[in-house]
Amino acid sequence: MMILQNRIVLITGGASGIGQACAQTYARQGATVAVVDKDKPALQRLKQQMGAPHIFLEADLNSGPAIEQAIDTILQKYGRLNAIHNNAGVASPSKPLHDTTEEEWELVMNVNVRGIYYTTRYGIAALKASRGCILNTSSMVGEIGQDNHAAYAGSKGAVNALTKAMALDYAADGIRVNAVAPAGVWTPMLRQWSKEQPEPARIIQYLDNIHALGYCPEADEIANVCAFLLSEQARFVTGCIMPVSGGAELGYKHTL
Ligand SMILES: NC(=O)c1ccc[n+]([C@@H]2O[C@H](COP(=O)([O-])OP(=O)(O)OC[C@H]3O[C@@H](n4cnc5c(N)ncnc54)[C@H](O)[C@@H]3O)[C@@H](O)[C@H]2O)c1
Repeated sequence: MMILQNRIVLITGGASGIGQACAQTYARQGATVAVVDKDKPALQRLKQQMGAPHIFLEADLNSGPAIEQAIDTILQKYGRLNAIHNNAGVASPSKPLHDTTEEEWELVMNVNVRGIYYTTRYGIAALKASRGCILNTSSMVGEIGQDNHAAYAGSKGAVNALTKAMALDYAADGIRVNAVAPAGVWTPMLRQWSKEQPEPARIIQYLDNIHALGYCPEADEIANVCAFLLSEQARFVTGCIMPVSGGAELGYKHTL
């Protein structure tokens, strides 16, 4: 059974990592996917793999008009929109708050938080019409914190709060709003992040150890849960920050 048949799904940051795995999973589950990303070459590569009826739109979440235009294009092409997955994000910088520059702060907050504002502002009418749903890619650090990443953790805490507030605001319209909260996931973002840490050689073992289930997952493990949350199977789930974290947050562990 395909659980997303006949759905039109917009995903931001869909050209790489978790977003790419989600786009491919949604398509396998019967959805038509509108991939929105700022990385044109990566969009082109994905277009070659996925092809029609999916569409691949270059837009930067820093720009309200660009997001409005992307949503207009989707509505003109398909006539409706069933789901928005706010997935694009930036994880840098690896710094405490006082060392974070204004430019770094603005980038993290713009992409991770304001991007959700834009897709909601310009997409909510279409979601009301379809009684659709919203999914946000948060992070376990928005709940439990992370050293050396105050701006990123703060942005994901905001994503969690938005998820709950929006779930309340749009419940009367039949719109569900949920989030997934991974810990680590092997994606280009995590590979880049690993290189920036003080002891890159020990990072793989560290990333396996933080997950109680013993390994750092690939993106498809997150995508399966995202597909479930967008589907009718999750029709009574809203305002949920779903850990997809292999138990990373569960407590003290003896790892020596
Ligand atoms: N990888 C992890 O370990 C991990 C863990 C928890 C949460 N997350 C979250 O998952 C999401 C996806 O992360 P990923 O690891 O797949 O990252 P990634 O870097 O592999 O992919 C992110 C995508 O977002 C796009 N993007 C970035 N800024 C954009 C902008 N301004 N406008 C449009 N598109 C933009 C990039 O071009 C890229 O295609 C992020 O929100 C991230 O915070 C990742």
